[in-house]
Amino acid sequence: MKVYLFKDHADTSEYAAKVLIDQLKTRPNSVLGLATGSTPIELYQLLIKAFQDHEISFQDVITFNLDEYLGIPADHPQSYARFMHEQLFSSIDIRKHSVHIPNGTSQDPDQVGRAYEEAIRQAGGIDLQVLGLGNNGHIGFNEPDEELQNYTHATHLTQETRQANARFFGSIEDVPTDAITMGMGTILRAGKIVLLASGEHKADAVQKTVEGGISTRIPASLLQLHPDVLVLVDRAAGSKLNPDSYEVR
Ligand code: F6R
Repeated sequence: MKVYLFKDHADTSEYAAKVLIDQLKTRPNSVLGLATGSTPIELYQLLIKAFQDHEISFQDVITFNLDEYLGIPADHPQSYARFMHEQLFSSIDIRKHSVHIPNGTSQDPDQVGRAYEEAIRQAGGIDLQVLGLGNNGHIGFNEPDEELQNYTHATHLTQETRQANARFFGSIEDVPTDAITMGMGTILRAGKIVLLASGEHKADAVQKTVEGGISTRIPASLLQLHPDVLVLVDRAAGSKLNPDSYEVR
């Protein structure tokens, strides 16, 4: 894992944007894995700017999002499909059929998971996966557990995750109890992974992800097994890391 510490979230996002822009310049038909949540919003704004400045195009890009809530329609204000449309896709030139987000309204999530894996395989695999980090160490919606899943699957959200996401819904009761998410293997099969984290509330999870043992109780710690992971954190999120061990940017 390469770990870089930045002054603040803006600098963290700017570096992540550079990595993605370089990726798209080198390989304009890249397959990107994308995340939702608060963390990548500034990154997406910078990608939109790079598109508007004619630096990059998404014409030939294919995307796969990490996850979607189960039981809310794509046009629900808090669906991840809607989030992606509003935060990125509506402002860039990506083709509609190149965007993939698991269908959260299917009666057969297992089939959705199988089809999602097949679509990723047919696209040639994910070149670069963007990840946020849950306060509890989750990536995608792979929640801490005794066992983790390899492939895209339906999953139950922990109370902690529902609480963390209640800020988007108004109250915890409105947060769906289940989701469909890429599995750990789906994520670990990506060619390159960029994990972003900002804020003091992520400091524990960042420390365990980077410096702790590899444990299914901290799903992100499995990223230690991947040969090309970039961990980009701001000072607050990196505040529990050993300061002498990492590059300050
Ligand atoms: C989102 C996702 C989640 C978030 C994580 C952090 O697609 O898969 O793992 O990345 O919960 O969320 P934020 O960025 O809102 O703190």
